[in-house]
Amino acid sequence: MEDTRRWIFRDIHERDLPEVISLHEELFPVKYSRKFYDSLLDKNSAGMVTIIMQDLFSETIAGVCTFRIQSTPNSFLKAREGYIATFGIKTDFRRQGLGRNLLEFAIKEMEKVEEIYRVCLHVKTDNDAAIALYKSLGFMIKSRLYNHYMIDNEEHDAFEVEKIIVRERVDVSGSVWSLKSVFSSSRPVSQKPSDHGSCCLM
Ligand SMILES: CC(C)(COP(=O)(O)OP(=O)(O)OC[C@H]1O[C@@H](n2cnc3c(N)ncnc32)[C@H](O)[C@@H]1OP(=O)(O)O)[C@@H](O)C(=O)NCCC(=O)NCCS
Repeated sequence: MEDTRRWIFRDIHERDLPEVISLHEELFPVKYSRKFYDSLLDKNSAGMVTIIMQDLFSETIAGVCTFRIQSTPNSFLKAREGYIATFGIKTDFRRQGLGRNLLEFAIKEMEKVEEIYRVCLHVKTDNDAAIALYKSLGFMIKSRLYNHYMIDNEEHDAFEVEKIIVRERVDVSGSVWSLKSVFSSSRPVSQKPSDHGSCCLM
């Protein structure tokens, strides 16, 4: 039977919090604090932005993405970046392109908030589905962070992955240049990352 759902993106409301909490508990092995969830509702803080993907008619929530705009740690140039804190699609709705749509939408929203030079996030090194999705959207591995996550008393490595936002500029002489050439230093996700060097350590 044809799926007649119409997926829309919207902001989080207070009434969503219980569902957003249970969605995070279903999707992620990492446990998030009450402070984290409260920050999603705090519109006055310059903190987290939450995007909810829901069916227009039934209001079923399929996925969620939270991000913030921050200064790149240890950056000389005071560069600004979008950091994706959490992102996922409910099991029943996977492999239909919703994850890709949600991530693309979130990146566009970040670019509206501020001029950022990259989008970055952390992903467990064995999360093949997410890594394949990031790769398909042009993300690259920046570094491997050993023992980054503590899950059920076990340490797990993470990749820091990034997507450089390319914005072409024309300078006064008429030459075209792009931010990518200034900042990019990462490799395609399929290649083995180096074992050292990191930024965006959270
Ligand atoms: C990762 C996740 C968000 C993908 O969501 P999704 O809606 O199923 O992804 P999409 O249908 O948009 O898939 C887009 C592409 O990602 C890749 N992909 C997605 N799931 C995959 C899987 N299980 N195995 C291999 N590749 C996969 C494919 O390249 C896919 O393109 P294709 O369908 O044309 O082959 C989802 O699996 C999820 O929520 N996982 C649990 C939470 C999580 O790990 N979040 C990321 C934390 S960093």
